[in-house]
Amino acid sequence: MPRSPVGREIDRVDGRLKVTGAAEYSGDYRAPERAADLAHAHLVTSTIARGTITRIDTAAALASPGVLRVYAAPEPIERLALYGVTGQAAGFTEPYIPLQTAAVRFYGQAIAMVVAETPEQARDAAALVTATYAAQPPRTSIADEPHVPAGPTISGSPSSLDILAPGVESIDAALAASDVVVEAEFHQNVQHHVGMEPHAVLAVWEEPDRVTIYAGAQIPAAYALGMAQRLGLLPQNVRLITKYVGGGFGARVVLWSDTPLAAAAARELGRPVRLVLTREQMFTLTGHRSHLTQTVRLGASRRGVLNAVSHRSIAERPSTMSFTMTPAHSTSDALYRTPNLHVDAQLAVLDIPGSRAMRGPNEAPGSFALETAMDELAIATGVDPVELRLRNHATTHPVSGLPWSSKHLEECYRVGAERFGWSARSSRPRSRVDGQWLYGTGMATAIYPAARRTGFAVRVQLRNDDTAVVSTGTSDLGTGATTMVAISGADALGIPLARVTPEIGDTYLPPGAPAVGSSGTHATVPLVVDAARNVIAELKRLAVTRDGSPWQGAAAEDLRYERGILHGGGRSMTFGRLLTAIGSRGVDMESSPGGDPIPGVIHHSFGAHFCEVRVNRFTGETRVTRFTTVADVGRVINAKAARSQLVGGVIFGIGHALLEENHLELRTGRLANSTLADYLVPVNADVPDIDVVMLDEPDPRLTGPLGDGSEDVGTRSLGARGLGEIGTVGSAAAIGNAVFNATGVRLRDVPITPDKLIEHL
Ligand code: MOS
Repeated sequence: MPRSPVGREIDRVDGRLKVTGAAEYSGDYRAPERAADLAHAHLVTSTIARGTITRIDTAAALASPGVLRVYAAPEPIERLALYGVTGQAAGFTEPYIPLQTAAVRFYGQAIAMVVAETPEQARDAAALVTATYAAQPPRTSIADEPHVPAGPTISGSPSSLDILAPGVESIDAALAASDVVVEAEFHQNVQHHVGMEPHAVLAVWEEPDRVTIYAGAQIPAAYALGMAQRLGLLPQNVRLITKYVGGGFGARVVLWSDTPLAAAAARELGRPVRLVLTREQMFTLTGHRSHLTQTVRLGASRRGVLNAVSHRSIAERPSTMSFTMTPAHSTSDALYRTPNLHVDAQLAVLDIPGSRAMRGPNEAPGSFALETAMDELAIATGVDPVELRLRNHATTHPVSGLPWSSKHLEECYRVGAERFGWSARSSRPRSRVDGQWLYGTGMATAIYPAARRTGFAVRVQLRNDDTAVVSTGTSDLGTGATTMVAISGADALGIPLARVTPEIGDTYLPPGAPAVGSSGTHATVPLVVDAARNVIAELKRLAVTRDGSPWQGAAAEDLRYERGILHGGGRSMTFGRLLTAIGSRGVDMESSPGGDPIPGVIHHSFGAHFCEVRVNRFTGETRVTRFTTVADVGRVINAKAARSQLVGGVIFGIGHALLEENHLELRTGRLANSTLADYLVPVNADVPDIDVVMLDEPDPRLTGPLGDGSEDVGTRSLGARGLGEIGTVGSAAAIGNAVFNATGVRLRDVPITPDKLIEHL
């Protein structure tokens, strides 16, 4: 009898393909039947941030070996047929048509594209394209440019609101009436997603009005729809294949300019076209996390009980594509109980590359501010940081007043403190020294929203060889989504994992959940269970109606399905044998629509981070030496992949706290760093062993009822919450708080680099 794979340490079903290089990423596809035809594109980008192109000289590029075409703004040598995007896909597509006008809106914008026989020929010719401009001074400073209200948050709630206790006039009055007030201002520079796989696209036209696109996408359906609109095609005539993806993190939510350009060139040339961005181009053409200023003010009693929380922010609104950053959302407006709350998000319009959500898009930066301020409050009140958070624990959501569907945050603190050995810390800053190293510990809370999502579908097929195929058009960014689909299918059908084939990453499959907002898993598992339930019902219907079945003429409700076998009337048969007996190769059913939100509850994931750092007294070098994260993420589907996601999130936090930033040159609007030598991300030497615990408390009201166990279908994968982002929320603050405990130095501008620290050591 197979044991359910749910919650076990399961290797990725595509792990071997990946480590042997057999998995084909977007830039690896060869369009086999037309390989000899394949042409290669390379983009040329602008060297001003704002203004107009007056001339582009393409003569040298055109004369270069192997060059087929040079497309350039403002006077396209060969005009590419591209259109604006309206309606549903607009929010996921850049709001200008690339290469169609002379306007330059950011430094690094695509202004020309060379297509040649080989990638090297295209790249070399692209280097020969020169442009002249009528430049205007770019708007680059969030401090100096006018601010506009950010508008609604990602979940549609207001980004600016006040909740005041009866009789309290304003948040300022509430703060003034508090015994202890902490006020702190935080800055962070631009950060980048830095997916391991560069953006790459292959466009293959099957017919004049039908195209297949190979590209990494987090929301395949929106990506394909945007392409259809850009190319003037019927939506069903764009097929997007996005099977293996080397990291999304928000950078593949949007249809950027590269994909439509490659597809339009392929159409015009009548050849498949591949376009791979360089690492440098990734820094301007595929989004970034906005730079940001935040001010947090906390008012509390002497015992540290919060009376007022105020969290204000100013972020970017790039003149083209903008992610509306609202860092108080799901941090200060959700985490702690407080009678008085003020949150407010402002944006400044800038001439810089388009920004996009980046892992924990509001929550990672927002929690750095809130959780650092909470540490400052702990110091100001003399209350232990864990105890301070317990004293302000919320049992209902501060804004909506609703209870959580499932919340085990107190247990996260308790388990984490115990595992980490929190009680052994010295609460006095700069009191622990080991040779030239100062060391200390810090902690912070993690919170990330979850929501029921609908509108997607899963198909389960039972085959006559006793295997099953579970299909849904979601994408796997490297998270293990494919394996999650297989595990959920194996559990639902009660058959071994090896007999389940997951099928994802193709918009011709049933519409799959977007791989965004840590929601792919909890959007998908209920559909897998439901499709399995439907296909089992259909199997029974066939069993009682079809010639060749031993149950022909019996009643379907007298049959019982268990672990791949149909039982009834003293007989048993596997589904494969039954299908063979009735002359069928397979039977398939899709999930039913539904799964609407359950009213009266709110959903979040929670966690607690505990961290130890060592700071070199002489060089200011900070090393993270221990890290424990305890996460309340609902039912765990795959303990191995889940741990990897949380570890990856903490590593993002290490980058956020200590390494990652890009400087925007105020005069030119150029992002100064554009390689992995000058944009630093954590490498193995920066990362200690990260101890991760998942509480594995199912959240049934997020994914639908768990069932009573009497059903034919396995329901162990229900109650999961996605966990891609929770690890990166709060982890940077835990590190900063540990740096303070080690050194007595509070730095509110991240990354905390040696040059900033050393001044104070
Ligand atoms: Mo995410 S920042 O929803 O990829």
